[in-house]
Amino acid sequence: MLVLGLETSCDETGVALYDSERGLLADALFSQVDLHRIYGGVVPELASRDHVKRMIPLIRQVMSEANVRSSDIDGIAYTAGPGLVGALLVGASCAQALAFGWNVPALGVHHMEGHLLAPMLEAQPPAFPFVALLVSGGHTQLVRVDGIGRYELLGESVDDAAGEAFDKTAKLLGLGYPGGPEIARLALQGTPGRFVFPRPMTDRPGLDFSFSGLKTFALNTWQKCQAAGDDGEATRSDIALAFQQAVVETLVIKCRRALKATGLKNLVIAGGVSANLSLRTSLEAMLQEAKGQVFYARPQFCTDNGAMIAYAGCQRLLAGQRPDGPGIGVQARWSMETLPAV
Ligand code: KG4
Ligand code: ZN
Repeated sequence: MLVLGLETSCDETGVALYDSERGLLADALFSQVDLHRIYGGVVPELASRDHVKRMIPLIRQVMSEANVRSSDIDGIAYTAGPGLVGALLVGASCAQALAFGWNVPALGVHHMEGHLLAPMLEAQPPAFPFVALLVSGGHTQLVRVDGIGRYELLGESVDDAAGEAFDKTAKLLGLGYPGGPEIARLALQGTPGRFVFPRPMTDRPGLDFSFSGLKTFALNTWQKCQAAGDDGEATRSDIALAFQQAVVETLVIKCRRALKATGLKNLVIAGGVSANLSLRTSLEAMLQEAKGQVFYARPQFCTDNGAMIAYAGCQRLLAGQRPDGPGIGVQARWSMETLPAV
């Protein structure tokens, strides 16, 4: 089964072709970072307008790269939420229009399910069941995964998502957008131990997270240094490192707890923050000790992309799931636990 996947939930237009027999045939992405950079974050209306501009050329591009004609395509998968409603509507209407024209089903896919399944596109995919740590710009969740659509939420952030904390901390340090890669880059030059940030909510039981306090801690630290005239690149790097270490260690502690609580050995990390090298190596070290294994996608499939949507949609279409009707329904908020099992 050959599926065209469309991702437009935020500031990336992602298009891909996934075939259940041949794997990923083509994948193209247009990132709007340059468009939003001067605003220090995503401007929803600008994002929607840009998705309109990029969508059709990207679809033509992947079809030509994969040497695929419209009559070869068996179904379309598009991100139906969660995300920015205007942006989601671009992908949804494009998918429904093409589905009508090509006489194939267009299935709405949950963006976080896409992230969660992205490691399945790699050479050594994880097997169910496993614990998944979803860390993106909008979500921080620990989920027990028993199969596609069989999700049990174990814990989540009560305030900022991990990626959001990276972005906000980067902004207050005067770094660019998106902040995660900027902090990671600076942290490489930081001096370990100069600043020590708290590990929020690790001193009590449970699997929830709270990251908003870390950004305030970073702000206070930075302002103190600024007042003392110590506001150069070295101090920025030291703060970036202390912040990243705090986020990473907190995530590692909660992952270890989730694995213990579920009795599972395998951990999947997905979403933009799973591209973070320090997080990957720290989790690998923890899993080595616990005799388990950690799985993640290649960096370009950790952040938003069309391939994960094509893959997730293909699995659901293969299992016989079909859209309720030709309606263009998208959801800004959408719990993954409400998804049907396949
Ligand atoms: O999954 P994603 O592309 O979009 C959402 O669904 O939100 O995640 C974007 C988030 C941003 O907050 C970005 O700063 C963060 O992922 N991110 C990183 C890294 N690369 C992207 N955070 C830490 N380290 C990275 N290397
Ligand atoms: Zn995402």
